[in-house]
Amino acid sequence: MAGFQEPPLKKPKTDVNFVFNSHLPVQQSPIRGVNGHFNNKQHAGNFLFPKGPATFKPKVQGNGANRNTKSSDQLKILKQRHALPIFPARPRLLKELKKNDVVIVIGETGSGKTTQIPQYLHEERLDRKGAICVTQPRRVAAITIAKRVAEEMDTNLGELVGYSVRFEESVSPSTKLKYMTDGMLLREAISDPLLSKYSWVIVDEAHERTVSTDVLFGIIKDAQKSRKAFAKYPLRVIIMSATMDVDHFSNYFNKCPVLYIEGRQHPIEMFYAREKQEDYVLAAMSTVIQIHKEAPPQHDILVFLTGQEEIDAVVHNIRLIAKDNSLAEFPKIRVHALYAALPAHQQLDVFRATAAGERKVIISTNIAETSITIPGVRYVVDSGRAKVRNYLPGSGFDVLKVKKISQAQAWQRTGRAGRETSGFCYRAYTLEEFNAMAVNPVPEILRSNMSSVILQLLAMGIKNILTFDFIDKPSTEYVQQAVEQLTLLDAAKVVKSDMLELTETGKKMAQFPLDPRYAKILLSGPDYGCTDEVLTIVAILSSESIYTNPSGKKEAAVNARRKFSSMWCHENFLNYRNLSYTVEVRKQLVQVCQRCGISIVSCQQNLDSVRRCIIAGLFTNVAELQLGGKYLTLDSRQEAALHPASVLFGGKPAYVLFTELVHTGKTYMHINSAVDAQWLFETAPEYFRKRHIKI
Ligand code: CDP
Ligand code: MG
Repeated sequence: MAGFQEPPLKKPKTDVNFVFNSHLPVQQSPIRGVNGHFNNKQHAGNFLFPKGPATFKPKVQGNGANRNTKSSDQLKILKQRHALPIFPARPRLLKELKKNDVVIVIGETGSGKTTQIPQYLHEERLDRKGAICVTQPRRVAAITIAKRVAEEMDTNLGELVGYSVRFEESVSPSTKLKYMTDGMLLREAISDPLLSKYSWVIVDEAHERTVSTDVLFGIIKDAQKSRKAFAKYPLRVIIMSATMDVDHFSNYFNKCPVLYIEGRQHPIEMFYAREKQEDYVLAAMSTVIQIHKEAPPQHDILVFLTGQEEIDAVVHNIRLIAKDNSLAEFPKIRVHALYAALPAHQQLDVFRATAAGERKVIISTNIAETSITIPGVRYVVDSGRAKVRNYLPGSGFDVLKVKKISQAQAWQRTGRAGRETSGFCYRAYTLEEFNAMAVNPVPEILRSNMSSVILQLLAMGIKNILTFDFIDKPSTEYVQQAVEQLTLLDAAKVVKSDMLELTETGKKMAQFPLDPRYAKILLSGPDYGCTDEVLTIVAILSSESIYTNPSGKKEAAVNARRKFSSMWCHENFLNYRNLSYTVEVRKQLVQVCQRCGISIVSCQQNLDSVRRCIIAGLFTNVAELQLGGKYLTLDSRQEAALHPASVLFGGKPAYVLFTELVHTGKTYMHINSAVDAQWLFETAPEYFRKRHIKI
């Protein structure tokens, strides 16, 4: 098993030739809305214009846990809160929220929606009967925002303010403001479809349209209707976003009102590449160096690229280039990576202000697009790409692939340059390329494997997936393929036409916060006598990489890992934090196993048993060696290669099982294990008979 490495990047030789396109003055900036909705007369009355400085005293504060030591900090924080664009709109906002069952709130990133609105509700005691839940698509955002809000409310995290993300939570019975991932709220809905703990559910970053957010819309709508009829208190809903196809959402929620927070978007000068760039990574990197040579220090640069490996390589290269003598006369550069898998302390480092004469360069995934705001950014460099999950039709799995972003995302990225004062945005693509981009991103539900979601919907008692009230209906073909996968895993069975039911195995599988295939591996543990071993493997597969890839030592790290290709490792190059997290994940999976009555037995290093057990869940993820030496996946006949860093590279076993396909120039199989054809046939005979596997 091995992680991936990108080949080291070359130093950029040529500069990208940019053409100045336009100033984007505040009033006409398309950053302020998609499809002209901001100027839409229909919504004009709903602008929450700031009405000059307002004063107010919070009626309810935190428990004052730290009041003695932090009073001056608290004053500073209160001042910051009052200076946010949302603050002057507080009275009107609350009035509208009290009046309506569902409200859509739109406001620029950084205007204070996520941190302030839940506090306003609490200050007005609107959470007396039930808590306030705020969903986020990203676990990092849920954790960092909860920390910030706890600080603002002068309370310890986990008391009044808490968070809940997969495998990690900090909440208590007194928690009133709960930040959680959309996936976690969906999981809670399995045992409590009415979401009865909450008086408010706030779906934040709704424009991201993750599968979980989309499904939540349907669940919330249903819960709201049911609670009107017989619950002790109604369910109030707020949908929040920086940008959104507003009419589509408003129509879905019975023409609910849309409120706009007047943001503070400063003018941004736009530049487009004069010619199409062959290599967007090199283009982005050389643009950073160009800007660095021209811009004064303290003008920080935010660069949007696509994924961890690529970002790590660029960070490494910019650091190397910065050491070059020819750059000695320019400001000192501090380069940071920013992506979801980054350990928390390194993520927080990104927010550290620059010292005099220094410049900060942040190389980020789309995580910095809307959910995280970094102060000091004046320059944005946009590669125009993001790594996205895409379902591979005809197969049971998704492929991670670098794709062009949408225009809406490009405007969000641009907006990051003008948050505090005027800024500059360099698009490493041409204006023609921009015009050819889709206006909005395609919702994830229309391009992902649905098996996980369908398992959860079935666990909630929703039997007909095709009639579920989706805001955008997934394709019937994708639903059918997911149903087929669940049937093959023995999780679900068709009871009547289009009506499904969970099997006993399926009911147990739904208890695990895992992809159904991983849950099946754990459930098969006792059959192969290796629950103990597969628990460890699934815990690792469910965590961020436990490996480290220190810059400049990649080869040593790969070699070190080769040594423990099939045994558990006590060597160097392991990421301690992620490893501890994995241990925690494993503990929690053990608890679910115990709840489900799965006996935890060990095969004592009998690795064949372990591999057979893994096949029980992942039999759809198998590739077969062809005569020419290439691999084709058995399911969709997609060409997929072993990565040079894989421990199997060079060996070319006849059948390879993989966890994921990643497309970086070529499609690579991620995390592999060699498997025996005979085992495949024994484990899932029906499936492999259809695919003409040779024994
Ligand atoms: O949700 P929205 O993008 O409208 O704004 P927010 O996340 O509520 O952030 C409001 C302000 O709080 C931002 O301008 C940040 O400066 C600040 N903030 C912070 O200092 N630390 C955090 N972890 C989160 C927000
Ligand atoms: Mg926000």
